[in-house]
Amino acid sequence: MTIDLKKYVATVPDYPEPGVMFRDISPLMSDGEAYRYATDQLVDYARSKNVDMVVGPEARGFIVGCPVAYELGIGFAPARKEGKLPRETVKATYDLEYGQSALYLHKDAIKPGQRVLVTDDLLATGGTIGATIDLVEDLGGIVVGTAFIIELKDLHGRDKIKDYDIFSLMEF
Ligand code: PRP
Ligand code: HPA
Repeated sequence: MTIDLKKYVATVPDYPEPGVMFRDISPLMSDGEAYRYATDQLVDYARSKNVDMVVGPEARGFIVGCPVAYELGIGFAPARKEGKLPRETVKATYDLEYGQSALYLHKDAIKPGQRVLVTDDLLATGGTIGATIDLVEDLGGIVVGTAFIIELKDLHGRDKIKDYDIFSLMEF
């Protein structure tokens, strides 16, 4: 069975600001078959890379990464925003349109040498996934792949992560 996943993405003009076409995956997630179909493809990709850990950034990276980790019977580590992780962390900063932001991982989230899949709902400028990759590598993990439901081609995020394998389920 094939499902046209694009049909399950809602496009919202001028959100969160004028000129932006926001791609919203919540209709995809609220349809059980579509969510499972998308997850299954990400699982197949992760399997092909012999992944032994999944890492995803807050918040939508959890929606994508957790079911993949569950299906493979491997761990998931959340990359979180400032002030959310209670124990010792590593930090990576990334550029926003105005200013900077940061993501954190617990220091014991990844063991050196682990093969890690880094995943999120959407690749836009690549700042978020770039910082997530930096965190994994800081802890000695090997990023063997990156996976997304959506890639926004016009924002050229893949240029920022050009040294890594990139898998996405659809492009806009
Ligand atoms: C969105 C999206 C990705 C990121 C993509 O998250 O879920 O994580 O932006 O953009 P980039 O490639 O330009 O970094 P957001 O920061 O809005 O956080 P949220 O998941 O908590 O809503
Ligand atoms: N949709 C969802 N999240 C986003 C987008 C988008 O179009 N652009 C940047 N983050």
